[in-house]
Amino acid sequence: MLKIGNIILDVPFFQASLSGYSDYAMRTIARELGAPLVFAGVFLAKSVLHPRVFDDPSFKPGDDEHPIGAQLLGEDPEIMAKAAKMVRKAGYDLIDLNFACPAPKVVRRKRGGFLLNDPDKAIEIYNAVREAVDCPVTIKLRTSFDNKSYDNFWDICSRAAAGKVDALIVHPRAVCQRFTGSADWEFLSEVKKQFPRTIIIGSGDLLSADTIKTNMKNTGVDGVVIARGAIGNPWIFSQLRAGNEFVSPTLGEQGQVISKHFCLFREIYGRKNAARYFRKFAAAYCKLHPQRRKAQKAFFAAKTTEEFLAVVKQWYG
Ligand SMILES: Cc1cc2nc3c(=O)[nH]c(=O)nc-3n(C[C@H](O)[C@H](O)[C@H](O)COP(=O)(O)O)c2cc1C
Repeated sequence: MLKIGNIILDVPFFQASLSGYSDYAMRTIARELGAPLVFAGVFLAKSVLHPRVFDDPSFKPGDDEHPIGAQLLGEDPEIMAKAAKMVRKAGYDLIDLNFACPAPKVVRRKRGGFLLNDPDKAIEIYNAVREAVDCPVTIKLRTSFDNKSYDNFWDICSRAAAGKVDALIVHPRAVCQRFTGSADWEFLSEVKKQFPRTIIIGSGDLLSADTIKTNMKNTGVDGVVIARGAIGNPWIFSQLRAGNEFVSPTLGEQGQVISKHFCLFREIYGRKNAARYFRKFAAAYCKLHPQRRKAQKAFFAAKTTEEFLAVVKQWYG
C-alpha cells in the first residue's frame, strides 16, 4: 500500500509522467494491467493558463482514469499556482512539480532541473502551489545539478518536508548527467533515512520487476515510479502484482494488448498518422518478440490501420 496525501494506492508503484508517451492510450493500458495511478505528460504551466486548453481531449483526463496525476513545469510561482488550479479544475487528482527535467531548452529557461540551483525559488513555487490547491502536491527532483554539490537537494527536501509535501519523487542522477551513468540507489537509502516520515518514491533504471523489488527492499523507499520500464512492457505492473505467480503473456495476449493500445491511440491522433506515430511504441513492444527485428520491420512498413492490424495478426497470431 502507498498513501500520497488522500490518495491510497493498493500497491506501492505507479506509472511516471512520460512526455510524448503517457497519453490516454498508454495510461489506459497501464491501468488495465495493474498501475493504480498514472500520470499525463508534463504540462508547461504557462500553456495551461490558456482558457481553452482543456477543451482539447488530450489534455483532459478521462472519467475512467482516477486517480490521475498532472505534472507542472515552470519557473514562476504565481503562474505555477494558477496552472495548478486549472489542472485541478480539469479533474486531475494530484499535482507533481517538475524540478528534474534536464533538457537544455528547459534548464536555459530556469525551469525543471535548473531549480536545483535555486532552492529558494523551488520552495517558493512549492508553497504557492500548496496554497492554491486542495489535492496532494508532490515534488519530482534529481539529486544535484552538477554532480558535485548535493546541498541544494537536501535544502529543498528539508524545507518541502517541513512544508508537508505529500511525497518526494527522487531520480538519483544529477541534472548534468541527463540519462547517462546509472541511477544511484544507495543515495535513495540515505534520503529515506534522513526523511523517515516523508513519503519517498524512487525513480531511475527500473526496467524490470526484479530490479524494482530489489531496490525497494534494499533502500526502504515507500514506492517507485516506473518510466522506461513500462514503455512496451505494461505487463511490468501485472508482474509486480502477481510476484512469483506471474505468467508471461503469450504472443497472442501481447498482440491483443498492442491492438487495443493502437486503436485507442488512433482515436487520439487520427487514422491518417496513427501507424506512423505509433512506431515508437511498436518498437518497444517488439523487444518482447522472439523475432524482434523482423516484427519491428513489419510494423514500420505498415502505413494504414488495416496494415498495422494485419502485422499484429501475422506476428502475434
Ligand atoms: C521518453 C521519456 C519521457 C519522460 N518524460 C518525463 C516527464 O514528462 N516528467 C518527468 O518528471 N520525467 C520524465 N521522464 C523521466 C522519467 O520519469 C524517469 O525519471 C527516468 O526515465 C528514470 O527512470 P527509468 O530509468 O526507470 O526510465 C521521461 C523519461 C523518458 C524516457
